[in-house]
Amino acid sequence: MDLYLDSADREALGPLLRTGVFAGVTTNPLILERAGVRLGEVPELTRWLLDAGAREVFLQTTTSDVEAVVAEGHALRALSDRVVVKVPATVAGLTATAELARAGVPTLLTAVYHVRQAVLARAVGAAWIAPYLGRMTEAGRDGRRHVEQMQGILTGSGTRVLVASIRSVDDVHRLAVAGIDAVTVSAAVARELLEEPLTAAAVDQFDEAVTRLR
Ligand code: G3P
Repeated sequence: MDLYLDSADREALGPLLRTGVFAGVTTNPLILERAGVRLGEVPELTRWLLDAGAREVFLQTTTSDVEAVVAEGHALRALSDRVVVKVPATVAGLTATAELARAGVPTLLTAVYHVRQAVLARAVGAAWIAPYLGRMTEAGRDGRRHVEQMQGILTGSGTRVLVASIRSVDDVHRLAVAGIDAVTVSAAVARELLEEPLTAAAVDQFDEAVTRLR
């Protein structure tokens, strides 16, 4: 399972990207807003993320008209061949994704809440889908079952599953065990993911032994 960071906060992202654990960074307008990044600053943010170690950067379109989404998708992809274009899974988004896919632009259909949308994403040639696990569950749906069924449908296809809206490290653990392709997590969940108290306690014992042996 690949790990991504769902953030545009450079202060938080720097140390996390340096670990080499995270394959890349996912963003959307909410993520940009939380980090105080304006739309005109996205190209500079993208360059910073790639220089900081992100192997892939996911940037979301902001328009709703098919032609505008397609044009925006090409413009975002032109920033780098390591940019993946995120498009909301609406009818216009599906239509634009089909056109972008035909043009060779890798896309991720986002804000996915139901298994049937995985079938639609594969049909239009999306490279990824982003089901919102936390929000699905909070809306009263069996988010984990939906996500696992999406993975079952898409395994072996050209469309991969990148689960977002992750609420805990336990979500990451269970999704990895379920064989999900990838997850994207907040900086807070990422930091918690990296820490294991029993490992830290063992290192304390090593350090004490080293002190005694000097
Ligand atoms: O990538 C989608 C994600 O940002 C949504 O997460 O925490 O707002 O449900 P959340």
